[in-house]
Amino acid sequence: MSIKIDNLNDPTDSLSARVSDLIGRMTLEEKVAQTMLVAVNHIETQAIGDLGIGAILSGGGANPEPNNPANWLAMVDGCRQAALQSRLGIPILYGVDAVHGHNNMRGAVIYPHNIGLGAARDADLVRRIGRATAVETYVSGVRWDFAPTLAVPQDIRWGRTFEGFGEDTALVSELGRAYIEGLQGDDPAAEFSVLATAKHYFADGGTTYGTAEFVFPVVPELGVMEEVPFLVDQGDTRLDEATLRKVHLAPYLAALRAGVLTVMASFSKWNGVKLHAHHYLLTELLKEELGFPGFVVSDWEGVRDSHLDPYTAVVTCYNAGIDMNMVSFGWHEKMELLHTAVQKGDVSLERLEDAVCRILTVKLRAGLFEQLESSDRYLPLIGSSEHRALAREAVVKSAVLLKNEKQTLPLPQDAPRILVAGAWADDIGLQCGGWTIAWQGEIGPITSGTTILEGLRAQAGPEMVIDFEPDGRFDGERAAYGIVCVGETPYAEGLGDRANLALDADQAALIERVRAQCDYLIVVLISGRPLIISEGLPYIDALVAAWLPGSEAGALAELIFGKATFSGKLSYTWPRSMDQVPTACAKEEGPLFPYGFGLTT
Ligand code: BGC
Repeated sequence: MSIKIDNLNDPTDSLSARVSDLIGRMTLEEKVAQTMLVAVNHIETQAIGDLGIGAILSGGGANPEPNNPANWLAMVDGCRQAALQSRLGIPILYGVDAVHGHNNMRGAVIYPHNIGLGAARDADLVRRIGRATAVETYVSGVRWDFAPTLAVPQDIRWGRTFEGFGEDTALVSELGRAYIEGLQGDDPAAEFSVLATAKHYFADGGTTYGTAEFVFPVVPELGVMEEVPFLVDQGDTRLDEATLRKVHLAPYLAALRAGVLTVMASFSKWNGVKLHAHHYLLTELLKEELGFPGFVVSDWEGVRDSHLDPYTAVVTCYNAGIDMNMVSFGWHEKMELLHTAVQKGDVSLERLEDAVCRILTVKLRAGLFEQLESSDRYLPLIGSSEHRALAREAVVKSAVLLKNEKQTLPLPQDAPRILVAGAWADDIGLQCGGWTIAWQGEIGPITSGTTILEGLRAQAGPEMVIDFEPDGRFDGERAAYGIVCVGETPYAEGLGDRANLALDADQAALIERVRAQCDYLIVVLISGRPLIISEGLPYIDALVAAWLPGSEAGALAELIFGKATFSGKLSYTWPRSMDQVPTACAKEEGPLFPYGFGLTT
């Protein structure tokens, strides 16, 4: 329902007339404030209305306490109401990283990370997941999603590999487009539609190993006890322009065709120049050549990090084409810097108004001016059985069967006893990975869902005994079948950059231990990328790459017991050794498993 504030919310006016009318009424301070995207845990709600702040975000882990859907709605609505109290009553945009479901919110359905969706090779599935994610996000009051990631990762040492659908440009384009169509529906202003963000513009997946200059500081609350130099994340993409466009730009063309209205700049550089400060790529290419009609949002403090001098950073980035500044600490000072820059003419009023015009246009197109009320009546849609069924479908379609000797899989329903080992078999946090409840993810029962072990127990034959020992030290006789679940512990962004992707020694030892106690050994890998497993492979009868399957990982039991058949295909080349990273296919010996590989049962 539309509430009228002067004629600002008159939907009968044409969009551009409404925008011009609004801009004509705004003070310089209000225009500057409209371009700010402030982290919710760094701003007093009152300030949103007092200053007319344009947008608020919950970064990874910025959740209400207790973390539940009703409190999410209350938190977001508090910010929305504050904005409506501002002098002009311009609604805010509220953004979150719903990158595999509304993953910060406890109780939401967590879908497989994009690497798994890439393996599922099913655009319709991705579209439906985008839709379901939009529904759960919308219901919590949030209308803007910082997803999908359109990176085309070329080096699996990158801690964001799993956020990419795959290493192939065409695959990323197809699935990225489907995701956007799902999030935004037919009309971004419709009920249950959420604005998508194409990120991170662009070529974030093409950075050269060793070129990242960023060092993550000690942050004990995140468990980071010593400085972590990034290896791939936020590095420099060293490519000629033709290759840059060919490999990394195409997904953005697809996203624009799908009607994406916001684009997030990448922390990375192109041939030494930060994307946030890149006039050619942000303004000449994206806005002028491609005609992008929406706005460009910075990444988290991406403006600040673009130059040592904070004033130069603001001037350079806004002039390059950043329209909205994502900020945390000291947001007020950063806002003041832009104000000063416009007063001094270092950023023209015209450039500022172009940014504001783009932001207001997107807000109008998203229907924010027409939807001024929120409601808790749809909260039961969060974590619904339909959404859980969709996630189960995605888990089944995304798992890739890499080896299946002696017809080990599917397991016979009448197997008397199965040994299950490895913490990954029974841990929702481990199976969800980073970007789940907390930015870096967490180990343990962090949200509702079904573990692999629970899935196995639920689907086991009536006589079957399933013994679970995380460390693989079973009492009693050997069994016909053993299942070992191992993989990576959760991480996100550059904190997940790794020089060496070999399976941990204690996990290799666990596989050996269980091997000695069973006739047929199945290994399920839960990881955000291919891991180096060549040495242990001869001892494994069946190997499944399950990626980061999310809250419904129990569905893997359907594949294991043959109630569903394996169909996933690798969306990344699987190297034999670290010598083959990043270019396994270029080496003579060839990769362990090529791109597109996947057995069926
Ligand atoms: C990430 C983005 C994310 C933003 C907000 C940044 O650290 O690079 O992908 O959207 O945080 O949470």
